[in-house]
Amino acid sequence: MELTRRKFLKLLSQSVLTAGLASYFPKLAEAADTGSLPIMALRQVVTRQPAASRMIMWQSTTSLAGCRVEYRQTGQLDRLTQDAAMDSLTEDGATNYYYHALLDGLQPNTRYDYRVVQGSNATGWNHLTTPSAGDTGFTALIFCDSQCAESYADWQRNLQNAVARHPGCHWLANVGDLTDNGQSDWHWRSFFEAMSSIPASLPMVPVMGNHECYGLDWKFCQPTRYLKTFALPANGSSRLQGYYYSYDYGSVHFIVLNTQMLELADFQPGLLSEQLLWLHQDSKAHNKPWQVVLMHKDVLAYDEYQQGTKTTGGISDVGRAFMKAFDALGIDLVLTGHMHTYRNRGHIKDMKPATDGPVYIMSGPIGNEQYRVPADTAYDRTAIYQPTPENYLLLKSEKKELTITDYTANGELIETFTLSK
Ligand SMILES: [Fe+2]
Repeated sequence: MELTRRKFLKLLSQSVLTAGLASYFPKLAEAADTGSLPIMALRQVVTRQPAASRMIMWQSTTSLAGCRVEYRQTGQLDRLTQDAAMDSLTEDGATNYYYHALLDGLQPNTRYDYRVVQGSNATGWNHLTTPSAGDTGFTALIFCDSQCAESYADWQRNLQNAVARHPGCHWLANVGDLTDNGQSDWHWRSFFEAMSSIPASLPMVPVMGNHECYGLDWKFCQPTRYLKTFALPANGSSRLQGYYYSYDYGSVHFIVLNTQMLELADFQPGLLSEQLLWLHQDSKAHNKPWQVVLMHKDVLAYDEYQQGTKTTGGISDVGRAFMKAFDALGIDLVLTGHMHTYRNRGHIKDMKPATDGPVYIMSGPIGNEQYRVPADTAYDRTAIYQPTPENYLLLKSEKKELTITDYTANGELIETFTLSK
């Protein structure tokens, strides 16, 4: 039976769980303590094995030679040192210097202090915590589409409220379109200023979106600033380093894919074929019971014109590129964004609604760009009301269960469900 749009939305609104508005209005987090060093955006970035290592990054607008990271187990006096590598990028009339230092050989389930040092100058001590090496439980915040128009105040408020609402969260992902324009210095600075000290204490998991590939002229461009901004786990390809990667956390193997085949067609024509080869190898090489994919564009079109299928409905070009591989590899859960709405499609297999196969969840936005997004009645099981409010996911993992919950930025519970093995 064909549903009218009004009936569909009514049906959806009846299936949406509401648990009342939470009243979390924390004081905005303060910026990281950078001491006497003129640096910004101090951040932890995920590594392949977060139980044993952490990437520490920061930026400056003047060249700071000889930076290093000092670190120690909290409560211990012995300090270790790791020299930082420096890189730079001049774009949008601004030169930024990017620093990264890989802290390796860390003990699992341990808290460390770390600080950036240059000569006699140093930041204050910041903190990182490694998870257990085994299949330990964890919680993560999954944000999509933090891109903002005119001001990043919504991203700032929503991120900080979410972190305060879920104390003890272990890391946060941003599933693409971090900023509205991949070459804009103002957008990138605003994005990090809004995050204040949070990424200095929680590891970031970035995913490249299409807006990371938009230049100042709004034409497609190479995502150079994104690639400089995040030193990501190696994927075996020097040409496509940073475009896609994987990591283990607790009982989950996370696979971060790149859906920008359209935007990068002129720059990285082998992006899909090389990625699929890597995906099959990577998926077979880990020993975790769960496999979760994070990627920006969704597997359904929702009225967005698809170059490949030349239609605006059904399975998207990205879905056609990856879904067969997800079926073959036994992927459990696929988390996407891009359309700026929350949809739970349940299991899809052979590109059709099914009782097994991966579960496909789309969420976001968490920035201030809100839209009305049409239904796909063939696939959608539940949806958020329209126009979509800012929303995010909480992913809770225990050895036998993954629980996914969507909240609005105000703390309204939209839906929660659990996958079990
Ligand atoms: Fe997008």
